[in-house]
Amino acid sequence: MEKVVEVSHVQFGYTKDKLVFNDLNLEVYAGEYVCLIGHNGSGKSTLAKLLIGLNEIKSGKITIFNKELNEQNIYDIRKDVGIIFQNPDNQFIGATVRDDIAFGLENNCVPHDKMEEIVTYFARKVNMEEFLDKEPGNLSGGQKQRVAIAGTLAMNPKLLIMDESTSMLDPKGKREIRELTNELRKENKDLTIISITHDIEEVLQADRVIVINQGEVLLNDKPEVVFKNVETLRNIKLDIPFSYKLNEVLNSLGIKVESNDFEGLVKELCQ
Ligand SMILES: Nc1ncnc2c1ncn2[C@@H]1O[C@H](COP(=O)(O)OP(=O)(O)O)[C@@H](O)[C@H]1O
Ligand SMILES: [Mg+2]
Repeated sequence: MEKVVEVSHVQFGYTKDKLVFNDLNLEVYAGEYVCLIGHNGSGKSTLAKLLIGLNEIKSGKITIFNKELNEQNIYDIRKDVGIIFQNPDNQFIGATVRDDIAFGLENNCVPHDKMEEIVTYFARKVNMEEFLDKEPGNLSGGQKQRVAIAGTLAMNPKLLIMDESTSMLDPKGKREIRELTNELRKENKDLTIISITHDIEEVLQADRVIVINQGEVLLNDKPEVVFKNVETLRNIKLDIPFSYKLNEVLNSLGIKVESNDFEGLVKELCQ
């Protein structure tokens, strides 16, 4: 399998006296959907920023698409990487939603009519088509996130990094974005996604889950394996997904449930 991301013995800290990562190692392969989870302050956003070279690492090596991330390669690498930050307010620059979604395409000199087509397509995909001529500043947090997602997807990245990019959406909105990324993955089997998220439904559909704790990889496996480590997850004060907690309780009561049918389970219990 082709390696898309390789983080090898990375050391990094914002200040001299406090390291965020002492010796971080992880790999992500082409076509994988990897969810990164962990307690607040564990270094998830920092990792996302390091992957696009926003901060310089102290030692170690980061390789993206087989190119070492350094001053020479950084602009080349960024062409293939789309990142959606935690706070959508940081991404707005245009006078209208249309301008915002088009921003990256304009920088890439995409012809005007083609650009219109792409912008409309992704605006529709994130349910923001009717807002195309509106001012981004007046949108709600969730709507801003939708616009940021559309703008990044419009660039057709090979590696998509999402940092809690659906945190302001309601469950339905989260599901819509999940469906959208799934659709894109079906169209493009090589699309690699790294998603930092608290959305349990999303984590459960990932190919792999990496649990970061205090700057270290604590667990790294398929979701069903990771979530079996209930005690470990509880020790790092990670919010164990509601449904798993529920499952635990039910299991202790001797009640057997379909472990993947959460919505059904919740409905059943609420009746
Ligand atoms: N710009 C910054 N300057 C100094 N310290 C920072 C900065 N951003 C984050 N940190 C610190 O780095 C650590 C990791 O933060 P972060 O990567 O944002 O964690 P997470 O995204 O997992 O919540 C925290 O201790 C945080 O306070
Ligand atoms: Mg963060």
